[in-house]
Amino acid sequence: MREATPKTVYLKDYTPPEYLIDEIELTFELDAERTLVRSHLSLRRNPQCHSECVTLELQGEELELLSVAVNGEKLADTDFVITPEAMIIRRVPQDKAFVVSIENRINPAANTALEGLYLSSSMLCTQCEAQGFRKITWFLDRPDVMTRFKTTLIADKNRYPVLLSNGNRTGQGDLADGRHWVGWQDPFAKPCYLFALVAGQLECVADEFITMSGRRIELEIFVEQHNVDKCAHAMQSLKNAMRWDEETYGLEYDLDLYMIVAVDHFNMGAMENKGLNIFNTKFVLARPDTATDSDYEHIEGVIGHEYFHNWSGNRVTCRDWFQLSLKEGFTVFRDQQFSGDRTSPAVKRIEDVNALRTRQFAEDAGPLAHPVRPEAYIEINNFYTLTVYEKGAEVVRMLHTLLGSEGFRKGCDLYFKRHDGQAVTCEDFIKALEDANGVEFGQFRRWYAQAGTPLLTVTQHYAADAKQLHLTIQQSCPPTPNQPVKQALHIPVKLGLLNQDGSTATVRMRDNSATEVTLNLTETEQTFVFEDLPTQPVVSLLRGFSAPVNLNMERSLEELAFLLRHDSDTFNRWEAGQQLACQIIFGLMTDLQNGRALQLDEVMIDAYRSVLSGSFDDLSYQALLLALPEESYLAGQMAVIDVDAIHQAREFVKTTLATRLRTEFQALYAQHHRDESGCFDAGAVGRRRMKNTCLSYLSKLEIEDSYRLATQQFQTARNMTDQMAALAAIVNSYHPNKADSLESFYRQWEQEALVIDKWFALQASSSLPNTFATVQALMRHPAFDMKTPNRVRALIGAFSQANPVHFHAKNGEGYQFLADQVLVLNELNPQIASRMVTGLAQWRRYDPERQALMKQQLQRIVASEHLSKDVYEIASKSLA
Ligand code: ARG
Ligand code: ZN
Repeated sequence: MREATPKTVYLKDYTPPEYLIDEIELTFELDAERTLVRSHLSLRRNPQCHSECVTLELQGEELELLSVAVNGEKLADTDFVITPEAMIIRRVPQDKAFVVSIENRINPAANTALEGLYLSSSMLCTQCEAQGFRKITWFLDRPDVMTRFKTTLIADKNRYPVLLSNGNRTGQGDLADGRHWVGWQDPFAKPCYLFALVAGQLECVADEFITMSGRRIELEIFVEQHNVDKCAHAMQSLKNAMRWDEETYGLEYDLDLYMIVAVDHFNMGAMENKGLNIFNTKFVLARPDTATDSDYEHIEGVIGHEYFHNWSGNRVTCRDWFQLSLKEGFTVFRDQQFSGDRTSPAVKRIEDVNALRTRQFAEDAGPLAHPVRPEAYIEINNFYTLTVYEKGAEVVRMLHTLLGSEGFRKGCDLYFKRHDGQAVTCEDFIKALEDANGVEFGQFRRWYAQAGTPLLTVTQHYAADAKQLHLTIQQSCPPTPNQPVKQALHIPVKLGLLNQDGSTATVRMRDNSATEVTLNLTETEQTFVFEDLPTQPVVSLLRGFSAPVNLNMERSLEELAFLLRHDSDTFNRWEAGQQLACQIIFGLMTDLQNGRALQLDEVMIDAYRSVLSGSFDDLSYQALLLALPEESYLAGQMAVIDVDAIHQAREFVKTTLATRLRTEFQALYAQHHRDESGCFDAGAVGRRRMKNTCLSYLSKLEIEDSYRLATQQFQTARNMTDQMAALAAIVNSYHPNKADSLESFYRQWEQEALVIDKWFALQASSSLPNTFATVQALMRHPAFDMKTPNRVRALIGAFSQANPVHFHAKNGEGYQFLADQVLVLNELNPQIASRMVTGLAQWRRYDPERQALMKQQLQRIVASEHLSKDVYEIASKSLA
């Protein structure tokens, strides 16, 4: 917890470490309340660092010191100082290597922050990224200090029969007192943020993988007994990921053992600790009856993500935490590629862009905007953001687009070869891509340094006599905190042209012709000329969302409907439908605000009818074409967000479409409805997605027929996708069986924490009346627990981030509620508390009354005592 104003760390102040730690021998005598840690650090001066100082400063927090010695000689109290954040040894040998030995005690059971060593249910586990290792013992806790770890775990054999750490098992044995020990050694030097240990009563689900060079790798997933039947999908995903990385990047796994442990209490998704990943159960456990198709997809994505980190993150790691996107942006890009290849590239791309635009764009336009490579932080945990992860991945994707997949692969090969075993920077990554391809990405580097979402404004002029199309693109970028003026970026803009009949027109520029081109936009304004066009073509711009930008281009509803019908680019086809819906919804909002009666444009109905009657191999894609833009995406487009108008207008469109296209929705529902136990294959996933999209529309009709359909599906569903979709249709309508259904669902799934999370989240995000009272009641529900991050996210997170209408209630009750919870969480778990504050960060986007109410709660948070650095940083920057 914080005293005075916490200090800011700056990228510009980076200096190499004064000392290195080549090796650590760690011994844990594990106990839930009193764990003893003994460490021997083999240190030496860093030859690259020539400072004069003879002191050694090791980071450590919330540790109880028992003893410290240098080269075996116990230090006297006058030889060192302990501060809340460090141990400073006044003099250490300068001319030769030396050993520091430390004994300290920690209390995992008291660790509700879930950082360092903590207790989750009955197991002990660790989370060290970014700076959790210093809560285990004193160390040079920075990623550019890479150490070989030898770890011995000692614990009661009954309570903790399984003892795991990084690398390979080197020995084990029983002790006379009922305890046992297991030794581990990791042959790869690593930063301490990749250290992990786990102790508990765990079952092991085992398999194996043969690598491309013929090595046999043991794969082990550890879960509590009652979850053994939910590991098959995670295991298959792991094997898929290992194969994919060999085939796509030529990268092979390097240890003989790969372990994954699933824990109930986890601050984020998962962690790529060397050889011993620790996962939130949410991203491991799945059975068709407990997990939805989207859970299956997320599991595969996160398993892939953590696996891919073994190279992009572990073998080549970050020099400092400002370089976080070096591993995260790159690894997200890799997991996106993997998931696209596994399922449907078109659908995956749309989902990723949708998430990016609704969430990252908001971050980039608000008070917490920061570059992909931030320049300053108070608490690094606050920078595991959508910008570092998702925009970071877009930046890597643009490099991939500019180099083509072969050039990109050549660049990656060089990067991994050149920097294997090193801690490097984003600059090193770009340099490797440049050097391998003999190209220069000078201006492109600005993407790492400049925050904010660029805006492209496009105008076109068709010169009939010259048969030319002139396309002018202007780029600009709004100011962000500390960056009032922006420079032009290098933006790859993919483009195709369509003839009036919908066929592909040839794109001819000077001497080149192709069906599609990538324009290099580098100036503030640039005009591109396309030749040989006997009639005016329709422009399909920013195909595949080739850059993370906003696009401003005037289009008629008819032109958008045309593109929705004909664009051969799957992303832009979907995007045309989204823009069509946006224009219509915004028109309706204006009508609402002016008290006019609402009427839905026939263009929209026709467009949807033709999607409904179209034939699609990929039903998931068809379902996406029918999904209206989310309220949060619409909000992002407004100067002053009017949550009620957005909701009303969008609901009106949905209800009208359901009314007018009822027969079509019903027919498609019937066509794709199967009574199946829910296997995760593309065909079945697509059918369910399509069917449940129809159900969601039909439930808007508030008629007996739809109620019956929802009830039937709810009662007969044999997979969670269908059961949850039916329950959602019931909960989000005036269905007469709402209370009963919620009750029976709860009773059915009481023992499955992850399913109960869905039950909380569904109710918390309902836009129907009385939701706030429901949320308050759920806070007192026996199954609610402030110490379980998944539960907090399911209830408080869903209400404040996925329920705009009720969270932004005009009387401010939602804001006050959130601030109350943030202050409680602040004492328990600062990381989760600060995540929750972001619900208030966008306060400037609302009307003056709401602004005042939101600001008041932020001020109340900032003014409260014992504020963690995490919450202080987010709340104070939101107000700045
Ligand atoms: N490296 C992990 C991942 O992306 C996430 C670690 C998040 N750490 C944190 N302090 N928020 O897979
Ligand atoms: Zn990651």
